[in-house]
Amino acid sequence: MCPMKCQIKKTVSLNRLPVRQLLLLKQVGRLADEQGMSVYLVGGVVRDLLLKRENWDLDLTVEGDGIAFAKLVADRHGSGLAVFERFATARLTFKNGLKMDIAMTRRESYAQPALLPTVQPASIKEDLSRRDFTINAVAVQLNQREFGRLLDPNGGQRDLQARTIRVLHAGSFQDDPTRIFRAIRFEQRFGFRLERATLRLLAQAASTNLVQRLSGPRLQNEILLLLAEQDPARAIARLEQLKLLRFLHSRLRYTNKVKRTVTAVSKSLAWWVSRFPDSAIDRPIVYLMALSSESSPAVVATMIRRLTLSREQAKRVSFGGGRADRVLKRLTDKGTVRRSQIFRLLEDFSDEVHVLLFAKQVSRKQKVGLSLLKRRLTAYMKNRTTKTVLTGRDLQAMGLQPGPQYKTILGKLLDARIDGRVTTEAAERAFVRKWLG
Ligand code: CTP
Repeated sequence: MCPMKCQIKKTVSLNRLPVRQLLLLKQVGRLADEQGMSVYLVGGVVRDLLLKRENWDLDLTVEGDGIAFAKLVADRHGSGLAVFERFATARLTFKNGLKMDIAMTRRESYAQPALLPTVQPASIKEDLSRRDFTINAVAVQLNQREFGRLLDPNGGQRDLQARTIRVLHAGSFQDDPTRIFRAIRFEQRFGFRLERATLRLLAQAASTNLVQRLSGPRLQNEILLLLAEQDPARAIARLEQLKLLRFLHSRLRYTNKVKRTVTAVSKSLAWWVSRFPDSAIDRPIVYLMALSSESSPAVVATMIRRLTLSREQAKRVSFGGGRADRVLKRLTDKGTVRRSQIFRLLEDFSDEVHVLLFAKQVSRKQKVGLSLLKRRLTAYMKNRTTKTVLTGRDLQAMGLQPGPQYKTILGKLLDARIDGRVTTEAAERAFVRKWLG
């Protein structure tokens, strides 16, 4: 139902878009006029224009041969063009860095649920009605005479105003089970609610084995997108509430401790980013580590395989469990720990792991341990740029036979530097000589 003050617009102003995008859209509209084609801005960007949220994705769709039209735009603007024949879509990259996706308006048929659909040309109205949710099934025409005309045949504006996520047809989640996770993502991002029938359909689809049929990369993509949202802790709690975490692994343990760690990640990230602004953190991976931090190594390994995570991501995620607790115990030990010992404790781990450790400590609510950890992580970050003056070549010049002891001596030397036991080149040489013997 449309709320009392619901206002249904027939046009939408594109003036909120940055000037460069706006100009480009006008030019594309005129080019479509020349070709006698209709062209639309479509999907999430239109939804966000209606919500007055920033989203400058240029997703366009044309009634007719989308790829031919994309080629024409690319020719006119001298832009780069990548064509995806299988999906009848193209991506243009303009010289000023702007990107634009152009598709043809299509209907989709799913030979089998959960697999990618085949597409056939169709009208814009049909194109909108094959989409995931009413709020995303909206388009704005770009042809000059109709510039700004809003197409909303499924009540998208009504649902935006009622703050509701609603599927367009009963088979939506079955056709494309990624929409189960998309529904949660939009619900949590906008603070909306799943409409009743939609919630029932979601639960129905989730109770079948359709999600299991999704390929690893598609599931990974959805999960990481969800974990990349502003506040993934809420989305994770919602997944748990709807019993959807089992699609990561049926024995994933979402205990109160995990919940506290997941909730603490945002604080931990905020501290980390303010303290070390140059370190680029893979935030979704930190959340995945926190989420799986109380699960057994076997469960985590299976989850990693299911999501087809990269080797690098897998290495990080598999650290989350007992190992993290052991490292943390040493790091928050109130006794004296040398800086070099902290350095050696942490050097093999990525910054994502450091953020996880910090989150675990935040969740423990022990002030002393936390300030100790802050000091030690800060010292570690400083120490990791510390270098010895002497190199292997110098050791050779000092008469050391090539062999594994090079690594040992240079390691000891670095420890001594970090601890401030040697501070000059001369002291380094003296240290090596003494060590040799
Ligand atoms: N879409 C769909 N079903 C999907 C994925 C996408 O119907 N499984 C449609 C929706 O209309 C969506 C549009 O394709 O708006 C673009 O997809 P995407 O870029 O993934 O979604 P956005 O809505 O733009 O999401 P975001 O704001 O997160 O970028």
